[in-house]
Order: sequence, then C-alpha cells, then structure tokens
Amino acid sequence: MRNTETEPPGFGGAEAEARTLDAADPGHRHLFLVPPAEGGRYPEVAYLAGNSLGLQPRATREELLADLDSWRRLGVEGHLEAKRPWLPYHEFLTAPAARLVGARPAETVVMNSLTVNLHLLMVSFYRPAGERTRIVIEDSAFPSDSYAVRSQARFHGLDPDTAVVRLTPRPGEDTLRTQDVLDFLAAEGHTVALLLLGGVNYLTGELMDIPAITAAGRAAGAVVGWDLAHAAGNVPLALHDWDVDFAAWCSYKYLNSGPGALGGVFVHERHLGDPALPRFEGWWSTEAATRFEMTPVSRPPATVEAWQISNPPIFAMGPVRTSLELFDSVGMPALRERSLRLTGYLEGLLDEVTVDRPLTVVTPRDPARRGCQLSVRIGAGSANELTKRLRHEHGVIADAREPDIVRFAPVPLYSTYHDCWRVADALAATVEKQS
Ligand SMILES: Cc1ncc(COP(=O)(O)O)c(C=O)c1O
Repeated sequence: MRNTETEPPGFGGAEAEARTLDAADPGHRHLFLVPPAEGGRYPEVAYLAGNSLGLQPRATREELLADLDSWRRLGVEGHLEAKRPWLPYHEFLTAPAARLVGARPAETVVMNSLTVNLHLLMVSFYRPAGERTRIVIEDSAFPSDSYAVRSQARFHGLDPDTAVVRLTPRPGEDTLRTQDVLDFLAAEGHTVALLLLGGVNYLTGELMDIPAITAAGRAAGAVVGWDLAHAAGNVPLALHDWDVDFAAWCSYKYLNSGPGALGGVFVHERHLGDPALPRFEGWWSTEAATRFEMTPVSRPPATVEAWQISNPPIFAMGPVRTSLELFDSVGMPALRERSLRLTGYLEGLLDEVTVDRPLTVVTPRDPARRGCQLSVRIGAGSANELTKRLRHEHGVIADAREPDIVRFAPVPLYSTYHDCWRVADALAATVEKQS
C-alpha cells in the first residue's frame, strides 16, 4: 500500500506493488509481441484491448512462414505432402478447439467467420413454425447478431420487428438478470423458436449463466444457441455437458489468431447426422474419403464437419492452430485463475479512481458473472476521445464503444498487473475529479 510520506500522490505508490505482483505471477507475456507505445513513459503499450483483437503470439510468424514455404516447395502436392497436409488441415485444429469449449471433437470445427457461421447454423436451427416463430437476443447484442437475426426473420417471410425479441435489463440496471431471462422463457417460451445470446456480452462484459439459460430454453421447447465471441478463451466452457444446441465464436479476440481470423462452430452430438436438419452444402460437407470421387450427391459425415462448405484458407488456419496449442499448453483452468486475480486487481484500482470521477464500472461485481473485461461508463465527454487520450498521452490501449463505454480487458495470457496500474494511473490523470 502507498506510503503517503515517501511516495507520489495519485497512483504512483501502487506502481511498486504492481511490479511485485508481476514478479510473483508473470503469466505468459514472453510468448507475445507487445506493440511499442506512441505516448507515455513506457516503451510498450499497456494493451487492454484483447477483447477486440488479441496480440500476436511470437510463434505465429514462424508457422505462417513454414506454410508459405510448403507452398513454394510443393505447389499443389502440398495438399498431401506438406508437413501438415492441406487436405485434412482443419482436423489439426479440431481436438484443441473442442477442449477449449468443452466439446467432443465430432461437435467442433474451425471454419469461416463468426456471422457467416451464425447464418449457416440458423439455416439448420431457426425453423419458425406455427406460433413458435420468435428469435430472442439481448438488447445489447453485438450489432452483427442483430442484423443477422433480423435478416433470418425476413428470409422466412416474417416481420423482424415482431419476430425478434430483445431482452432488456431492468430500468436503471446495466446487465440482464438470469432470473428475468428464465421468467421470460417460462411466460413466453412457447413462442420462441431460437434463443441466441452472447455468452459474455460484448458491451458490459457480463457472463451469462449459460447452463441455466440453456436448460430453461430447451425445456421451453426452443433451440438454444450461443455467440461465444467474448467467451471463447476468456472463460471455461462445457458446451457438451451444458446441452447447448449450437454455438459459434471468433478467434481474433482472446484466441489471438489475427484480424478477421477464422471462427469456430459447435453443434451438439444429438443433432449430428440428423437428415431432417436443413444444411447448406459444398464439397467440404461430404465425407473426406469420397470427396474426390466427384459424384453429384454428397455423403455428409455424422459430425459437425457436415456444416463445412468450402476448402479452408490454410494461411488463416495456421495462426488458429498455433494459438490453440498455446491454450492447450497453459490450460483454461490456470488461465481463469490468473484472470480472476488480474481483473480483481484492476477492479480494486478502478474503485479508487472512479470514486470521485464521473466513471462507473458497469460489469457485474461478482467474478462468477464476468470474464476478464471491465467496462466503464463515462459520465462526461466522449468514449472515443478518452481512449485517444489514454493511448497518445499514456500508451494505454483500450477500446471505446460510443457513446459512453470504454472497455478494459486484462488478458490472463499476456496482460500484467503493471498494465492494470497504468490504466488506473492514466484515468486518474485524464479524467477530472468531480467537485
Ligand atoms: C459478439 C460478437 N458477435 C459477432 C461479431 C462479428 O464477427 P465477424 O465479423 O467475425 O462475423 C463480433 C465482432 O466483434 C462480436 O463481438
């Protein structure tokens, strides 16, 4: 704690404490490339934007170069002869991706981008019929999901304004209560065809009670899918045991696989091989063994690979594989432990900064109801302006969601206690105290 006689005011005193914590709990920062700072007193940025785009693992460049080299040396023969042959390349990602989300390998595949995958999954799992026509999302769903479900409703000839239900928090509250979702399902579940929520909300950082909501949704007769963009690699998941119908996630946030990186898909075992489920197909939907028989009719496997359509982009698969190997070697349980420590530390510092400034943490206080992200609502000025100043004056990278939310994510793989301290120090210097 700060000694007010010998240490500078503000957050100066806590800096030594942050350094001590880092020495005791160093994480895996050495495996990542941290961008240089363009402002402030430190050579590297304090990177708190891994909820938006994760940092580059050092191993990624080597792996990409190796794949490029296979192409140079082998040309088309690389499909079979590359160190990791391109034909079955997606299979190298399946087992680690399945471990990450608590799935069986047959239930998991890496392909396409997130919103594309949500659409492909809704082809199978949003099948409005009779009075069961509605899609339920959270009001603060990521806009891409809102657009996706509205366009799905229109695709089925429905009016999106009535077919899409947006669940809102109670007046004066920022996050959804699980009980309110359960109550809604108890009352109106018979009208719901699909419940599609974010596992961790992109704006508030709230971690939903995925097992409880899934169970209630399914008990009400709805299909339950999850957008895990902000959950995969952030919180432990057990999609198979939780009986989730389907899920999709991206790999550019906590999975550190690069901008626009490929997404992952989960379909529960009970749906695999079901000929009654509509699906869009291409040559990657058919059994690998028959792919080159060039027959006019596909023979889809009884795995989630039946949802694949095209042959995958190998140079985009490599970074995902590298990242998943990293998660495998560190393990989600250890990462979650460090995540709880880091985010709890940042929360304590934010409590000190926000007490007399127009700043409010809107993420749930209960660590069980959040991942690593803490979202701060600013009561004055613009979120964009604040993040610009944090970056240029202090070398702190956070991200703004206009009009008034700034998100800070201490990522357990590479963020440090000192990064958290820099956030608090920069906010204290940038946001004026209220008189
Ligand atoms: C929760 C959520 N859903 C969907 C998307 C869109 O992802 P993509 O552009 O990969 O389709 C994002 C992107 O950040 C997101 O955060």
